[in-house]
Amino acid sequence: MSRAEKIPVDALSETQAGAELARLAEEIAVHDAHYHRNDAPIISDAEYDGLRQRNSEIEARFPALQRPDSPDLRVGGAVREGFEKSTHARPMLSLDNAFTAEDIFDFCDSIRNFLGLAGDDPLEFTAEPKIDGVSATLRYEDGLFIAGATRGDGFTGENITGNLRTLRDVPLRLNGADVPRVIDVRGEVYISHDDFAALNARQTSEGKAVFMNPRNAAAGALRQLDPAITAQRPLRFFAYAWGEISELRAHTQMEMIGRFKDWGLPTNREMRRCESPEEMLAVYGHLQETRALLDYDIDGVVYKVDRLDLQDRLGFRSRSPRWAIAHKFPAEQAQTVLEAIEIQVGRTGALTPVAKLRPVTVGGVVVSSASLHNEDEIRRKDVRIGDTVIVQRAGDVIPQIVGVVMDKRPQDATPYIFNTLCPACGSQAVRETDAKTGKEDAVWRCGNRALCPAQVVERLRHFVSRDAFDIEGLGEQNIQLLFDEMLITGFADIFTLREKIEEVKKAFFRKREEDALERERRTGKKRKKIVDESKRTYKEVENLISSIEARREIELERFIYALGIRHVGRNNARLLARHYHLFGAFRAAMRNAADHESTAYRELLAIDGIGETMANAAIEYFTDKRFKVTVEELLREIIVRDFVAPTSASLVAGKTVVFTGSLEKMSRDEAKARAQSLGAKVAGSVSSKTDFVVAGADAGSKLKKARELGVTILAEEEWLALTGA
Ligand code: IVH
Repeated sequence: MSRAEKIPVDALSETQAGAELARLAEEIAVHDAHYHRNDAPIISDAEYDGLRQRNSEIEARFPALQRPDSPDLRVGGAVREGFEKSTHARPMLSLDNAFTAEDIFDFCDSIRNFLGLAGDDPLEFTAEPKIDGVSATLRYEDGLFIAGATRGDGFTGENITGNLRTLRDVPLRLNGADVPRVIDVRGEVYISHDDFAALNARQTSEGKAVFMNPRNAAAGALRQLDPAITAQRPLRFFAYAWGEISELRAHTQMEMIGRFKDWGLPTNREMRRCESPEEMLAVYGHLQETRALLDYDIDGVVYKVDRLDLQDRLGFRSRSPRWAIAHKFPAEQAQTVLEAIEIQVGRTGALTPVAKLRPVTVGGVVVSSASLHNEDEIRRKDVRIGDTVIVQRAGDVIPQIVGVVMDKRPQDATPYIFNTLCPACGSQAVRETDAKTGKEDAVWRCGNRALCPAQVVERLRHFVSRDAFDIEGLGEQNIQLLFDEMLITGFADIFTLREKIEEVKKAFFRKREEDALERERRTGKKRKKIVDESKRTYKEVENLISSIEARREIELERFIYALGIRHVGRNNARLLARHYHLFGAFRAAMRNAADHESTAYRELLAIDGIGETMANAAIEYFTDKRFKVTVEELLREIIVRDFVAPTSASLVAGKTVVFTGSLEKMSRDEAKARAQSLGAKVAGSVSSKTDFVVAGADAGSKLKKARELGVTILAEEEWLALTGA
């Protein structure tokens, strides 16, 4: 025992205090580790509290001596107004889902194909539980925890450093000689079953609402603006991946997770290494059986390619890594009564029947509606109003109706007759026929595209959504309200809203009043202060106007996506932006492409990943007079930033490449993915716009065409040299 340890706080010299704080930080960290990671505390809670207390007192006397890894930082600082945004150095992607054993065999095969591996070449995977919690990233520099954030949209999350510091599972310092200088640790914040039960018991005894499930409770705790509240929630953490890292300290996933553990990060002990899909499925079977014995919720198994060099070659698709997949457990089911069928009108006019259900809990969540997809689906399942149905919910997907419990069908239940008039505008809906296949579409569609109020509102919602203009405060209800009040009827109106700010305030206030009165009627409880509410509403509108102002400039790909062109999701929007670079060029090209004989049309179809259906939808959008006006009005209000190729340092950035013949060093998919990650465009056919044709063995007509057009032809080796492979 050091001498300083016995000295009362008010008798410590500054040097002694410094030494004492260092000792306490270390000792408390050891006890945190025993408590959480090993689940076996070696001192009593009272002794532990004593150490924490002494640390606080010393810091209160010598504030300048507070250490960056001070245990007191765990209870957080002052309450903040909101979270700051935090851009991830490397995106936090999600995982592709698999549901069947066959999906897993396909996953392994596709990886072998991509890497050009033979059936008997070794290929190992790790298998580990998919934790049903909330993902978070922890940044360590020189071993110290300096920042933490939520996943957000994968690229930018919220800075929740103060909240994450309160987790005893989050080491404030990583220990070990080989801790990388910089590392972003990725993992899941969760609440254990025991802690969850205790938390809800506490909520009940304090007369507060209970939490629906551990994940919701964890998410709520992380979103607290006051870290002291987060500190009272029993949050835990598992580390399972990493983002930016200055020095890689392993060759395999398994080894790396071992290093995490050595450095003091909590890792999952169920993780296994597998040499075949059969072994992966065995881990899945085992975890499915023993799932109930674990002290935390899991919703599947995650498989990852073990070798990090292979992970690197496999790389990423737009939203998920190619080297990992989540094998989900079967969805949970429940029975309930279908009380009504409502028709919802989507952004592109699709009429979707939605089952209104007697509320039922499925896998910890209350479900009161489920999609019935389309008319044929209702007929196929013979779903009738009044039927008892089986509802299924898997992860975050929309609940589904699996089927009808025929024994429970009421005698008077009659087959449902689909109303083919649009419920929003009364237009006659149609079922379109696919020009190519001649098949009738399963979906009834309201053709009143520009004027149907439901479609307009849905387009507006899409326009302001997270992956489009991302306007905070313009949620679904506010859009509907502003539309009903005719304050926003088209895209451009959003950006002129500030001119009508007084009317917006009135509309918002009126709506809040109505809601409050309705609540009073329902609950019989009077509100506190109306003055406060009006102030809050006005502040809300002012914040809304500022968030609109902050979004007057937008990247081209987000803009194309925001327009809501049919079949143009985020991926296609990115392909189009990458190809055309300027909005003006894109729009002109779509108008020219209306002539299917034009070079513009051929160029559009030559973009790898763009098919005829999408091409025609984009052309239709830009040749429709009404949309033309909409876009022109909008462009007067905003600035669309030109597309900038991500890695302009590469010699092939911005160039158009066509691969032909069989490649030896890489599969066609790997070659394509690499080229795209270097900023090149990969096309399917050769034209005068092609910069390079990479010709493998047995190249045929494309090579011939390249020769005719005088396009640069590269052998595979030359291409690899050019791209620095
Ligand atoms: S790996 C780049 N491993 O599942 C891959 N994710 O559905 C990074 N999750 O966003 C993810 N347990 O929040 C990984 N053992 C595990 C996981 C896991 C849960 C979450 C994670 C991810 C989501 C994807």
